[in-house]
Amino acid sequence: MDLSIIGSGYVGLVTGACFADVGHNVICVDNDAQKIKQLQAGEVPIYEPGLEEIIHRNVSARRLRFTGSIEEGVNNSQIVFIAVPTPQQPDGDVDLSFLEKVAREIAGVLRDYRVIVDKSTVPVKTGEKVAQSIKRYNRHGADFDVVSNPEFLREGCAVADLMRPDRIVIGAQSEHAIDLMKKVYEPFMAPMLVTDISSAELIKHCANSFLALKISYINAVSAICEASGADVEKVADGIGMDHRIGRDFLNAGIGYGGSCFPKDIAAFITISERLGTPFNLLKEVQRINNAQKERFLKAIRETLWVLREKRIAVWGLTFKPDTDDVRSSVAIELVTNLLREGAHVVAYDPKGMQKARALKPIAEAEFASSALEAVTDAEALVVATEWNEFANVDLAVVKDKMRTPIVFDGRNLLDPETLRRLGFHYYSIGRASVKPQ
Ligand code: UDX
Repeated sequence: MDLSIIGSGYVGLVTGACFADVGHNVICVDNDAQKIKQLQAGEVPIYEPGLEEIIHRNVSARRLRFTGSIEEGVNNSQIVFIAVPTPQQPDGDVDLSFLEKVAREIAGVLRDYRVIVDKSTVPVKTGEKVAQSIKRYNRHGADFDVVSNPEFLREGCAVADLMRPDRIVIGAQSEHAIDLMKKVYEPFMAPMLVTDISSAELIKHCANSFLALKISYINAVSAICEASGADVEKVADGIGMDHRIGRDFLNAGIGYGGSCFPKDIAAFITISERLGTPFNLLKEVQRINNAQKERFLKAIRETLWVLREKRIAVWGLTFKPDTDDVRSSVAIELVTNLLREGAHVVAYDPKGMQKARALKPIAEAEFASSALEAVTDAEALVVATEWNEFANVDLAVVKDKMRTPIVFDGRNLLDPETLRRLGFHYYSIGRASVKPQ
């Protein structure tokens, strides 16, 4: 099929590349001329495992191309996917101006029937607004259908998530649009759920907020574990073995971050209030997430006493491993707070340093070129992101290099027994602290 994707960010680019890989002809559109130039030159602007290879393969096979022109995309495709950012406004509401602008632009160049699919995460009822907007600016009076098709991919394993999805959600009114959407997704051989547009939009907000709720649940439990001497990993295993609960997303840590959970939960709270049905449970999810970050900082302060002038190594800057994305990263927030308290932060991240360096609050940090370089002469090590690389570092060497062997593990990445054996002072989340004799 001939498809176009408007917006070549994480979702748009991965979706476009994977659609091409299963045989569709795809045009990826973006209004960032620099990004399009880069993509046309074979450079991939984001790090996502497997993505570069798929893009190169499909560009060579002439199934994938890039353009700055919405008109070119709309003219040459049966289905137009919109995957533009829907960022958070300061009041928690979603900024839908990019989506609205794209809808108007599509309407202006629409000449024949097209299915317009919203892939961006939006509050329930946005599909109706998109349809209204297209109708209003539809210069040539062309026929169209609006569909909601939320995306569930996770950064770091986006290609795998897209190629082998748990489900495909198609929110649509017209049978013709549903048939076309089913054809797009046939090659993925995944279960398809067809709903009305509002339900599809809600599914996305509900899925993300439920996952965040699981994380906040286990993080609240981790505080109880620390106070009572229980082990949160064992508790998570024990409840996760109940298939009704499941072990996924029960990893205690310093809280969730990233470009989706914080934003989507704030947006869901706002839309629920606007609809007159406030979802207060989600406010507690947010509160626990913030408290967890504060609790971790408190543990650092309690052990190191004064942070001013302390040399603190931080492993990990991205919001999760296997990505270079540092947006709303808890690690970045942590570094910002350590710097604010006068600590000398030496940070290292396998993929996120370039993007982190560009962030104003952490410009004062020193950046190391390896995990071991970061810990040299450090008075404490903070593990902020659970990159596999960190789990494989020789901790005996780390101990030799540090001035004082103190580790704060915000992701429960390291093994407490090994740290005890090596004589570290070790704090992790929801597990008994290790203190040298
Ligand atoms: C999320 C959803 O998982 C995905 O379906 C949706 O399409 C987009 O939002 P993403 O933000 O890429 O994906 O990352 P995810 O793996 O969900 O992690 C989000 C945050 O939660 C990270 O900061 C991660 O460290 C944290 N997390 C995750 C935990 O703290 N504990 C866990 O058990 C799982």
